Amino acid sequence: MKPVYERFIENPDFTKSEFVELIKCAEDPEAVRKLKEEAVRIREIYYGKKVFTRGLIEYTNYCKNDCYYCGIRKSNTNAKRYRLTEDEIMACCENGYELGFRTFVLQGGEDAYYTDDRMVEIIKKIKEAYPECALTLSIGEKSYESYKKFREAGADRYLLRHETANEEHYRKLHPEKMSLAVRKNCLYDLKKLGYQVGAGMMVGSPYQTTEDLAEDLVFLKELQPEMVGIGPFIPHHDTQFAKEPAGSVEMTLFLLAVIRILLPKVLLPATTALGTMDPLGREKGLQAGANVVMPNLSPVKNRKQYELYDNKICTGEEAAECRGCMGRRVASVGYELVTERGDAV
Ligand code: SAM
Ligand code: FES
Repeated sequence: MKPVYERFIENPDFTKSEFVELIKCAEDPEAVRKLKEEAVRIREIYYGKKVFTRGLIEYTNYCKNDCYYCGIRKSNTNAKRYRLTEDEIMACCENGYELGFRTFVLQGGEDAYYTDDRMVEIIKKIKEAYPECALTLSIGEKSYESYKKFREAGADRYLLRHETANEEHYRKLHPEKMSLAVRKNCLYDLKKLGYQVGAGMMVGSPYQTTEDLAEDLVFLKELQPEMVGIGPFIPHHDTQFAKEPAGSVEMTLFLLAVIRILLPKVLLPATTALGTMDPLGREKGLQAGANVVMPNLSPVKNRKQYELYDNKICTGEEAAECRGCMGRRVASVGYELVTERGDAV
């Protein structure tokens, strides 16, 4: 019988047990090489050498949730909290627009200050000022009605990582009142409302098993999201996972390649967490099938405060520096950072 990675390349419609077998190949250099080669071949069929760029605006680090891994969790009393004003958010967009960004991502903790009405106002304002730009929200779990209001106000895309598709694992990463079922339901609601949807998981989060990762892949196959965000887990010193080991760069790259093959047209970022774990992590991500980067547009004065994990990169640079740096990084591996919305094909 052919090796499992060759069978996957021929027909990626794998079951959970086949994914388990596939993930075990992450330590086989020949399998890794073949999968990355295939991932790059596929991304180039759909996206050529283009890399899309998203301007990330981290607009609040207040959060009502208490995910055990996250530095901005409610119980971290050492976190210095901030919220951007509407004017500050608009200034980030203006700066980003001038630098060539045509997608803005509003990301934040689950902050009750931003009521549906406030969010709708901000969404409308951004879409009126920049009608040709795509607006992505990454603001957590909301009701169907709230998602509907945001969609009607003009939001185009929504990022909500499922974090782990295994119920038991989910419970080890989150307090009791959070639930995987609710999170998955949110993703299906977002799909119904016509958002381009992004799911995803951390790689190497505490207690994660190969079986859990296989379940993540099965879930992604079922959900068919337009975007998938994955990055290594990185400990934060003020959480109970402070002493846990970080996720591996190699496993993240392996999974990026697998996800590209599984969902050929997916928009797949080479994440900041990957760049934090390895100075060339984002470049390596692009060489494993990623086709999106998300430089930071948040005001420099607040960047360190949006500390999800330790040693996060790009916290001291101005947006223009970040844009320039990213352009050079992308070019260094033979790709081109482009100025376009970069919708799913
Ligand atoms: N509140 C929104 C939500 O829940 O989707 C968006 C913000 S949340 C901080 C963004 C993502 O950061 C999470 O989905 C999680 O995967 C990631 N994250 C949080 N803590 C992390 C850590 N310690 N290491 C790596 N990624 C982390
Ligand atoms: Fe932010 Fe390099 S991408 S400084």
